[in-house]
Amino acid sequence: MADYYFRFSLGQRLLHGLLMLSFLGLVTTGMPLRFSQAGWAIWLSHTLGGFGVMGFFHRTFAVLLTVCFLLHVTHVSYRLWIRKELGILWGPDSLVPHPRDIVEFFQHVRWFFGLGPRPSFGRFTYWEKFDYFAVFWGMTIIGASGYVLWFRTVFSQFLPGWILNVALLVHGEEALLAAGFIFTIHFFNTHLRPEKFPMDLVIFTGRVSEAELREERPAEYQSLVEGGKLGSVKADPPPLWLRNFGRIVGATAVAIGLTLFALILIAVFGG
Ligand code: HEM
Repeated sequence: MADYYFRFSLGQRLLHGLLMLSFLGLVTTGMPLRFSQAGWAIWLSHTLGGFGVMGFFHRTFAVLLTVCFLLHVTHVSYRLWIRKELGILWGPDSLVPHPRDIVEFFQHVRWFFGLGPRPSFGRFTYWEKFDYFAVFWGMTIIGASGYVLWFRTVFSQFLPGWILNVALLVHGEEALLAAGFIFTIHFFNTHLRPEKFPMDLVIFTGRVSEAELREERPAEYQSLVEGGKLGSVKADPPPLWLRNFGRIVGATAVAIGLTLFALILIAVFGG
């Protein structure tokens, strides 16, 4: 039986689960508001109780996403300011972009064309860092404009009225961008790449096999071996029920995301 190592803690997996639930909920309830003239949007809204109910669910999922975001920011701040783990900013396991990511990006492009070896990736690759920070600017732009729209009577007491129009425009367009990005690029990177197809279960099981770790993140593997830390992340093999749970949840999320993406395309290009 292959050896396994932990990549994500239970807390990180649960947080990603909440993020999936709230994001899918927000897109499912937001897009019918954005494309309220489309036949499918009218059908979906009426099935769920009308556009008003859609708005209510949208705000509920928005609160869930905000809680998720604040929990993460609090946890990162605690590690940074109280536990003084400065490595989360500059260390080899950091999610913060470093000059090395630019080098690896160009090495990767060369590899795509068969002109060089695959880069020796560490714990997080450049595209994973990009995905991570996309949530931050998404929350800043979509979240801030969303709260302005939600509490419009409060905000319009000290902001000019046109801000509400801009907030609606920015909210809808950035939401389209976020949904388009997650349902194509993020899904492709995590599930549809040839090495991962049909699904990467790591975010559900938290574990990677030794072969995956050595092959995909050689720099991280080497640093764990050299630092004598490989044993500290040793895991039991992911149980069958957990793999099946991941398959069901992952396949459902991908199916919902791709359906929403198709509906958005129909609304945009379908006339
Ligand atoms: C903290 C996060 C968010 C808050 C507070 C929020 C709040 C709102 C509010 C108050 C509205 C107006 C609803 C109405 O007319 O009844 C709205 C509309 C909308 N939201 Fe959000 N939202 C958030 C996140 C998101 C996300 C993540 C997406 C999708 C990725 C999204 C997509 C949309 C869309 C497409 C609309 C319709 C915009 C239009 O009519 O052009 N929202 N949101």
